Amino acid sequence: MSVKDQNTADAFATSWNNLPEGSVYTYAQFEEWLQPISKNDVTNKTVLELGCGNGSLLCHLPAWEPKFITGVDLGASVLSCEKNLSQTGVKNYKIEQQDLTTYSSAGHDVVYCIGVLHHLKEPIEGLKSVVKNTKSGGRFHCWVYAKEGNAVIIYIVDPIRKVVSNLPWWFTKYLVALPLVVPYFLYAKLISTSSIFKSLPLYNYSCWISQREFHFFHHVAFDQLVTPQTDYISKQTIENWLASFPDVDQKSTYIIFRNGNSWKFGGAKK
Ligand SMILES: C[S@@+](CC[C@H](N)C(=O)[O-])C[C@H]1O[C@@H](n2cnc3c(N)ncnc32)[C@H](O)[C@@H]1O
Repeated sequence: MSVKDQNTADAFATSWNNLPEGSVYTYAQFEEWLQPISKNDVTNKTVLELGCGNGSLLCHLPAWEPKFITGVDLGASVLSCEKNLSQTGVKNYKIEQQDLTTYSSAGHDVVYCIGVLHHLKEPIEGLKSVVKNTKSGGRFHCWVYAKEGNAVIIYIVDPIRKVVSNLPWWFTKYLVALPLVVPYFLYAKLISTSSIFKSLPLYNYSCWISQREFHFFHHVAFDQLVTPQTDYISKQTIENWLASFPDVDQKSTYIIFRNGNSWKFGGAKK
């Protein structure tokens, strides 16, 4: 396991283990993040989330009636994940604290990895694990930050992250993320009111996030700043990744630009 991944997982645990109980995402957010995977793909199937954080996505899965749910995370966020999932009343699940890049299972019908690969020292090692843990005939789905559409984040937020990710988490959360997110909150709420703002930076993303309240903005800003490792991934890189797997049905693969600054991608295993 890379020391950097452990540091990243420890940093995220400070984020996930200091949130109110339950999911930070609405059901609509969960549904859209997983799309094109939908309830039909999951009902009576085994599902694995690699890098599950506090289970904010997993908490919504029981509505899709899977046969069994497995969540894996390297960080102590597995504690809040376990608690959040048990509070849904679901029984057919297990949460494991492990490095996802070396995680090995008999295979799952659906494997997803959302918001994780871009934080790994070696993102391709994470994707190899996603594909390896997908059963033959099963589906996998990932989401990463894009290189495209993120100039403001890459040139303004990321240099700040490189400094403040070394500071105590509470300092970053309350004395850096909080004052920084106030102007962005006002900007997003304003530009999402009209398409006349559509050529401004982060317009599509702002329309998405402005549906949520201030505390969600603060959570996302802290998540961006607390992590010691973030990459921004180009469409070309994803195309090359997907093409490199002989056991992935190349006709099944997809890459979808999301909110103008991230990529959803996936496919089926032969
Ligand atoms: C931004 S969070 C995403 C959590 C969740 N998927 C979501 O969308 O809410 C990234 C998660 O990846 C986990 N992580 C990072 N490196 C990991 C590794 N090598 N193995 C397992 N989990 C890892 C972190 O601990 C963190 O909880």
